[in-house]
Amino acid sequence: MANITEIAPNIYRISVYAQWGDLQFNHFLVKDDEPLLFHTGLRGMHAEIREAVSKLINVSDLRHISFSHFESDECGALNEWLAVAPKADVICSQVGALVSMNDFIGRESRGLADGDCFSTGKYRFRYCQTPHLPHGWDAGVLFEETQKTLLCSDLFHQTGDVEPLTISDVVDRSYQAMKGYQAGILAEYVPYTPLTAQNLKKLADLQPKTLAIMHGSSFTGDCARALDDLSIVLREVFGRKVQEQMATAVE
Ligand SMILES: [Fe+2]
Ligand SMILES: [Fe+2]
Repeated sequence: MANITEIAPNIYRISVYAQWGDLQFNHFLVKDDEPLLFHTGLRGMHAEIREAVSKLINVSDLRHISFSHFESDECGALNEWLAVAPKADVICSQVGALVSMNDFIGRESRGLADGDCFSTGKYRFRYCQTPHLPHGWDAGVLFEETQKTLLCSDLFHQTGDVEPLTISDVVDRSYQAMKGYQAGILAEYVPYTPLTAQNLKKLADLQPKTLAIMHGSSFTGDCARALDDLSIVLREVFGRKVQEQMATAVE
């Protein structure tokens, strides 16, 4: 049974804990004149997530479906959603629309450029393109400007069946999770590229008040500082080896 928590006014976190990965999968529904779902979830979780969404809105009223990058937990159940919510448009990056999405759904998706905005009624969303952050050429995140909520996908990934919303530090939890993954098949979760720090700085400059996090607790508090700290953590976990290799190559 999915857990539903309102993490900010009209922003609902629909969470499913998967024992097999000791991991939560969180999907965010924004209730407004034109309801928006961020992350479709895995196909295998669709029935459970759809049932949870149906407690909040009529599923067929869903008008926007968005996600960060082309990956099963982000958008695997997209066609299942479009079958029950045919009025919904699909919002992603321009590169995502071109290289994956239009083919995947068999019709035009709505590819947004960095900084493009749209409204769902009283809420206003800004598309932030973040190539290769958290991963994927097509990656981006959505920022809801009126309440300053950043729908930030895999950033701040935490393991465990944790509380829906916290005011305590999520960066250290995420550091521990990503460091742990480095020892197994989930290593190199976030590629450290020349764009990583500037992507995170761009998000910190938005001064979010709430981080809607895909895996783990959402966070409310000093989000700009959390993003700055995450930048340090990503450099430490994923960037150090790259920088050492580059230094060796120069010698
Ligand atoms: Fe991902
Ligand atoms: Fe994810």
